[in-house]
Amino acid sequence: AHRIIIDTDPGVDDAVAIMLALASDRLKVEALVTVAGNVTVEQTARNACRILELAQRTDIPVHAGCARPIGHTRVSASHVHGVTGMDGPDLPDPTMPVQPRHGVDYLIDAIRDAPQHSLHLVMLGPMTNLAMALIKAPDIATRLRGVVAMGGARCEGGNITPSAEFNFYADPEAADIVLRSGIALTLLPLDVTHQCLTTPARLARLRALPGRCASAVVAMLEASGRFDLNKYGWAGAPLHDPCTVAWLLQPDLFAGRQVNVAISLHDPLTRGMSVVDWWDTTDRPANALFMHDANADGFYELLTRHLARLP
Ligand code: BDR
Ligand code: CA
Repeated sequence: AHRIIIDTDPGVDDAVAIMLALASDRLKVEALVTVAGNVTVEQTARNACRILELAQRTDIPVHAGCARPIGHTRVSASHVHGVTGMDGPDLPDPTMPVQPRHGVDYLIDAIRDAPQHSLHLVMLGPMTNLAMALIKAPDIATRLRGVVAMGGARCEGGNITPSAEFNFYADPEAADIVLRSGIALTLLPLDVTHQCLTTPARLARLRALPGRCASAVVAMLEASGRFDLNKYGWAGAPLHDPCTVAWLLQPDLFAGRQVNVAISLHDPLTRGMSVVDWWDTTDRPANALFMHDANADGFYELLTRHLARLP
């Protein structure tokens, strides 16, 4: 199985992404590392434990990472995910412990200890932890097999400001550090995730699944979906973070290009925006595989088939 660490800020769509990974026998989830993002880092760590308890996978450690972004105060997305970060299902308080080791230190050691190019990092929130790890231990950049992240937007515009996607906006300095690090990076931006809509028919197929994990997913998607449907007026709410895990499992669900991606840092109007050199207008070297297309039916088929395996 392919070894992964998931760095995350659960988060409704984070929870779905984590469950998708847990359901696959081709992925071995080594740990969940949490970060401040949708809600506080204490809450994202608690939510990570909740998900593992629900899926009966308390053998997987949870490490809490950074409590705020590098260059400014915290921005949250509790208007989408609810005050708990995972509003909808009635999940009990977790009883499994959060590990005492800080998430950034765990990441550095785990990446150094793993055989060269054996480990993928799946990033579902602001990139603070990986950026801090790269500052402390630059050698880890070439040790990973790759990083796959949900973040950025090219043609779609932003979802938290007119120009910026939430994960990049919540810590633009961190995204900038990661993009300049030389790490092999795959990005699933809004351009892709806005094609993966939870339509009523797709939600109905998830609702028909028997397990308590699938029921929790449906309850969360219904709660957060109400916000998104009002906002966008589409046939369903976008499902962002699971696209990263889906790409690991079935890369041909997505299409994109190797391009240069830079982050706007200094202009208040565009702070956190991903500036994508899609048409190769500069000599800046490619630093990411930036996706622009998704097979949404294939994606939901994969997700539904996998969630059916969970308790
Ligand atoms: C991203 O923002 C968060 O609210 C979601 O969990 C996702 O990671 C989408 O822009
Ligand atoms: Ca997220």
